[in-house]
Amino acid sequence: MASDLVSRLRDLLGPSGLITDPADLAGYSIDWRKLFPGTPLAVVRPANTAEVAAVVALCRDSGTALVPQGGNTGMAGGAVPDKSGTELVLSLSRMNALREVDPVGLTLEAEAGVVLKVAQDAAAAVGRLLPISLAAEGSATVGGVIATNAGGVNVLRYGMARSLVLGLEVVLPDGTVANGLRRLRKDNAGYDWKQLFIGTEGTLGIVTAAVLRIVPAPKFSVTALLSVPNPQAALDLLACAQDELGDCISAFELIAGSSLQLVEKHFGLKRPIADGDWFVLIEAASSLSGLREAAETALGNALEQGFALDGTVAESGRQAADLWMLRERITESEAKEGKSVKHDVSVPIPLIPQFLVEAGEALAAKAPGTRVNCFGHLGDGNLHYNILIDGHAPDDVNRIVHDVVQRFGGSISAEHGIGQYRVVELERRRSEGELALSRRIKTALDPQDIMNPGKVLSRAAGPRFEAQ
Ligand code: FAD
Ligand code: MLT
Ligand code: ZN
Repeated sequence: MASDLVSRLRDLLGPSGLITDPADLAGYSIDWRKLFPGTPLAVVRPANTAEVAAVVALCRDSGTALVPQGGNTGMAGGAVPDKSGTELVLSLSRMNALREVDPVGLTLEAEAGVVLKVAQDAAAAVGRLLPISLAAEGSATVGGVIATNAGGVNVLRYGMARSLVLGLEVVLPDGTVANGLRRLRKDNAGYDWKQLFIGTEGTLGIVTAAVLRIVPAPKFSVTALLSVPNPQAALDLLACAQDELGDCISAFELIAGSSLQLVEKHFGLKRPIADGDWFVLIEAASSLSGLREAAETALGNALEQGFALDGTVAESGRQAADLWMLRERITESEAKEGKSVKHDVSVPIPLIPQFLVEAGEALAAKAPGTRVNCFGHLGDGNLHYNILIDGHAPDDVNRIVHDVVQRFGGSISAEHGIGQYRVVELERRRSEGELALSRRIKTALDPQDIMNPGKVLSRAAGPRFEAQ
């Protein structure tokens, strides 16, 4: 059966569209954190939507599971196959045409395999901004960003990936192509079905192309790093900045002093202000002049009121990039430091200081010796409350932190998704009604459970349909 399918795939896609050599499969088989090693049957690399549809039809007929993969930068093990040797990885890497940038209609159309940075640069080349920014942007793809409803550092101002998707083309689990590549800002004609494929991590279909919303690129920006005495002061600073800078604030990131120490240790990057327990990296942008003055007023007020202890405002683009580098290197520093469990949590913004107190207390009591690496998108109520586990069992640590999150009415995944990393925790913590609804959607679109099975939701009971 399997060899028959592989030979059909070879006929369909040609040599550049199929990988079966074990050495070449390696890079597609495991996530970048090396937590979820898998064994693909093969990797298919279709060149266009028709080929994706034909591959999916072959999988439908043979009951073969498919795992869509973009840049494989995901945090939740969603893009890699299981160890059975029966799942096909479908890489979108050859579908990398950037089709159109419209600087007047403010849209960008790209195939799913276009790397996010390439799309950002194409928008920048015509004075526009694709306002989604994350440290993995040099490898993450448009399809992956949509499939995970990625967040990043500009959500505060521009929303998550979902808010940027105007049109979508997908291939459904039965091979049907649904082409909704419309460039419309207003479109209430019928169900807004594209939402089903945003943030569902390739479990309902394969994103093959998208039309994204872009915005005029602001002419001026200000970036500042401040130390703050505690997380409550960071929230007071946020309010202060909102009073002076209004909707110009495009990023407001909280960083623990210990996170910056990891960056210093592993990358030799030095913070330009005195050491402290907590820092805030803030960026504001506008096309109107006077931004820098407003930012300086806001920062002066914050220092005067004791919300900030020390601070520096970047004097050039280079200095701003250096400040951002301190933030962007945290994830890699954490990986170099040792084994960690990631908690990508959100709680209502005003509750964050108390959440940090209670999560810290719970860990000290139940998992002593663990170290917290806490940073993230404070302006969105989303913290990466990652724990260097130093010998403790990952599942126990997970449970301890998520129990506190649940008590605060929070979410166990604000932006990274569930993948295979958080399936058990999601099923433990979501209400029965919500899970039943999710399963009904999955079954309606993918009755054979061939589209990225076991991700987001546990596998459907019973064997997958097998063709005779
Ligand atoms: P992959 O990792 O290849 O896939 C992710 C999921 O999407 C998988 O379930 C996969 O099956 C599915 N998928 C991929 N392509 C398609 C497609 N075309 N159709 C259907 N399903 C598909 N994420 C954030 O949200 N915010 C951050 O700030 C952030 N920072 C990061 C920083 C670093 C250093 C790293 C390594 C990662 C970070 N991430 C962040 C996580 C990751 O970069 C994003 O989730 C990104 O959107 C994944 O894109 P990708 O192309 O690599 O997708
Ligand atoms: C980030 O914001 O840099 C990533 O989403 C976080 C992580 O490493 O947990
Ligand atoms: Zn993040």
